[in-house]
Amino acid sequence: MLGFNSARNKAGVQSEDTINVCGQEYTKDEWTNVTPNILSKTSRKLHLHQSHPISIIRQRIENHFATFKALNRFEPTVTTKMNFDDLCIPADHPTRVKSDNYYINATNMLRAHTSAHQLQGLESGATKFLISGDVYRRDEIDSSHYPVFHQMEGLQYFDMDPEITAKQVQDDIASQAELAANTVQLVDDTLVKPENPIQDRHAPEAAQAVVAHLKHSLNSMVRALFKDEPNLQVRWIDAYFPFTSPSWEMEIFYQGEWLEICGCGIVRQDLMDAAGLQNKIGWAFGCGLERLSMVLFDIPDIRLFWSEDERFLSQFAAGEIVKFKPFSKFPPCLKDISFWLPEKDWNENNFCEIVRGVAGDIVENVTKIDDFTHPKTQKRSVCYRITYRSMDRNVTNEEINAIQEKVRSTVEEDLSVQLR
Ligand code: PHE
Repeated sequence: MLGFNSARNKAGVQSEDTINVCGQEYTKDEWTNVTPNILSKTSRKLHLHQSHPISIIRQRIENHFATFKALNRFEPTVTTKMNFDDLCIPADHPTRVKSDNYYINATNMLRAHTSAHQLQGLESGATKFLISGDVYRRDEIDSSHYPVFHQMEGLQYFDMDPEITAKQVQDDIASQAELAANTVQLVDDTLVKPENPIQDRHAPEAAQAVVAHLKHSLNSMVRALFKDEPNLQVRWIDAYFPFTSPSWEMEIFYQGEWLEICGCGIVRQDLMDAAGLQNKIGWAFGCGLERLSMVLFDIPDIRLFWSEDERFLSQFAAGEIVKFKPFSKFPPCLKDISFWLPEKDWNENNFCEIVRGVAGDIVENVTKIDDFTHPKTQKRSVCYRITYRSMDRNVTNEEINAIQEKVRSTVEEDLSVQLR
């Protein structure tokens, strides 16, 4: 395990043995890797601020699925059981690694996806529901990656009897006013195949009907969100999630690129069973709200969502999608750092996390600009260029030098690298 915690404890930011997250005390252990910077985000709840772009998109989706129950107030602290085990994610699955997640301790974490609440949604008694919230993942640093972002989860289920399912699905599709599939340009050559199978417990007719309903629901959702886009192209591709089968990703073609919008599929029957719904069959999806907001509002940098600058916030009003008008950017300050890697345990996310921990939101980008292995010693050396820039003020060179020094000493101490 990497020694992240030593530096923080020395700084006296957290008490020795326990940590307070969202008003609750937890005992720390060797899994604890949440940082003060990350914990400060848990109280922001951007998805609940009526006139914030993230919230405007959430409300648009909720308006589209008007008959769904909206569950928006779950705290981001969940058990690892909720985030992983309940969703059929095996104990040794790579998605659980410490370097990709924010653990409070071995059994509690900041949720990595809103799917962590699927079971609670199913147990709420609603046959169709949406869940929105902030989710946390350790990641690289650039204009579209931030360790906190927001997701919207959707789930709807039907009776499992194939005739009833097909009937319920047809009635439901017919009852929806705005049509979807015939007003988007669909690219969908996905066929259910052995690699992405219908579950054994499901009659093929029932599963196919629910798949049709899922695709219709998501096609009409993007149609409604992008209503000013006359030739919206939507593409469906096969995917894999441990908690759905079959599974897909839906992408849209926007300004020359295919953008992934949602992951989705037919809910694993084990989950329905766990909620006491043995005779029901359902679909689920999960969408990133930042991605949708960035394209719909023309927001170029994901850090802007966290800005408290009036020049950002005052541009938006509840219910309205408007194009963001960039205000002048403050100048960047670039610093390079080079070091020899340790023989084992090197992980780039851990490095990025240190940079973020020290510099907070002033770090805009971390890019590797050099990577070589010494021909004789076989030692590997890397060089990263860190771009520092504030969203709302000028940064001084002295201030950035001090931050860079702190980054250098923390990286040296915590990651056992040899600075050059
Ligand atoms: N939770 C998945 C993710 O974050 C998305 C998803 C949700 C996929 C629901 C299938 C069903 O990537």
